[in-house]
Amino acid sequence: MKNILVVGGGGREHAIIMKLSESDKVGKIYCAPGNGGISKYAECFNVSATDIDGMLKLANELKPDMVVVAPDDPLVLGMVDAMQEAGFMTFGPKKNAAIIEGSKVFSKDLMKKYNIPTAKYEVFSDSESAIAYIKSENTYPTVIKADGLALGKGVILAQNEEEAVTAVKEMIDEQKFGKSSATVVVEEFLTGPEVSVLSFTDGKTVVPMVSSMDHKRANDNDEGLNTGGMGTVAPNPYYTEDVAKECMEKIFLPTVNAMNAEGRTFEGCLYFGLMITPNGPKVIEYNCRFGDPETQVVLPLLDADLYEIFEAIYNHTLADVKINWKQEYCTCVVMASGGYPLSYPKGIEISGLDDKGQVEGAFVYHAGTKLDNDKFFTNGGRVLGVTCTGFTLQGALDKSYEAVSKITWDKVHFRKDIGQRALQANTDPLSLDYKDDMESYIEDNGVYLRQ
Ligand code: AMP
Ligand code: GLY
Repeated sequence: MKNILVVGGGGREHAIIMKLSESDKVGKIYCAPGNGGISKYAECFNVSATDIDGMLKLANELKPDMVVVAPDDPLVLGMVDAMQEAGFMTFGPKKNAAIIEGSKVFSKDLMKKYNIPTAKYEVFSDSESAIAYIKSENTYPTVIKADGLALGKGVILAQNEEEAVTAVKEMIDEQKFGKSSATVVVEEFLTGPEVSVLSFTDGKTVVPMVSSMDHKRANDNDEGLNTGGMGTVAPNPYYTEDVAKECMEKIFLPTVNAMNAEGRTFEGCLYFGLMITPNGPKVIEYNCRFGDPETQVVLPLLDADLYEIFEAIYNHTLADVKINWKQEYCTCVVMASGGYPLSYPKGIEISGLDDKGQVEGAFVYHAGTKLDNDKFFTNGGRVLGVTCTGFTLQGALDKSYEAVSKITWDKVHFRKDIGQRALQANTDPLSLDYKDDMESYIEDNGVYLRQ
């Protein structure tokens, strides 16, 4: 039996742990730092996810057979390199590949160089030139992005010149996100439904997972501030068979090939954040990891052994693993602290959860909870992800919202319209029997994309 250390402590890590625990090859699961809910399923250790030395020390004590690094910061900092150098089989991209998320300038330049469809852009490190460019383009909204990681807050959709100028000054001159915003990307505003596609890749084979749809804004009708994600559904009905084929040929394979060509082979979960524009699918962003809360709806639909997949990626034998998907829908409604994504209180008692932090009829992934005397308390912005599967999207959503109604705390906040945009799509999601006619591999430059 294999023992595994999972690095991270949110809903995504809870979902990864639950899927790994289904494998009959997996023994003990450890998590650092974990959270209150995760501690019911994995032994948690109080080491921060960005503390590379601390995590190495913990790994040397626990001697796990595999380390899974889930969040963006430790990946971009090079935790996988450090773990592998210390002899641990580790899942996740090395530092030189994690840069695909760690630097927007890197990822935009990569797309330009390899002709991967994305929004038109320019890069600036001085505010005067950026403002001159924005004024000369004179097209609003316009998008301003900090180059580096900024807790998901480094993207400003400026509605007019004044907002654009303020954003540029805050980022470059006032270093709102420190070094992360010393350089910015100014890019064209795109429109269309958004689709998230996570993929497994070992640099030789790419296996796209079931598509999903995030709900990034804090409030109903996509109003309010951008958040890490307030809910997800899978599959995403805007990801039709035609769209999928175009993404595979123009985006997924070329990206993996481009990273190989740059000497930055990507091994892990590569996340494609896409917008289906009137001119076809374009890349909004890459992430070097599983999305959160996308993972909470994608992994429950995985009909395969996640441990075997992680091991195969490490060994570059992903082509040999059979990966199937359940023919169902999955929905996750995030319950957050009132005030998120700005300031919010912590330490409020949650009512409605059982001993394991669950409610009947759903699976509750814990994102930010703390356990104290066998009671669960809020301990973050996003607190719980209430997740259900069903044979219809509406059915899964109804179950998720019924489960949500059983849980509460003072000033709880959640969106009431998760899945509504997906329900309005006049398309069938790429799912259910697409494999029959797309079983074949697509090959490009020695890299294979497999359904
Ligand atoms: P990102 O962190 O790059 O995913 O951006 C956060 C969100 O901002 C995305 O999910 C989109 O909703 C929006 N966004 C980012 N770039 C653009 C763009 N070029 N055009 C329109 N919306 C965008
Ligand atoms: N839900 C979007 C992300 O994980 O970045």
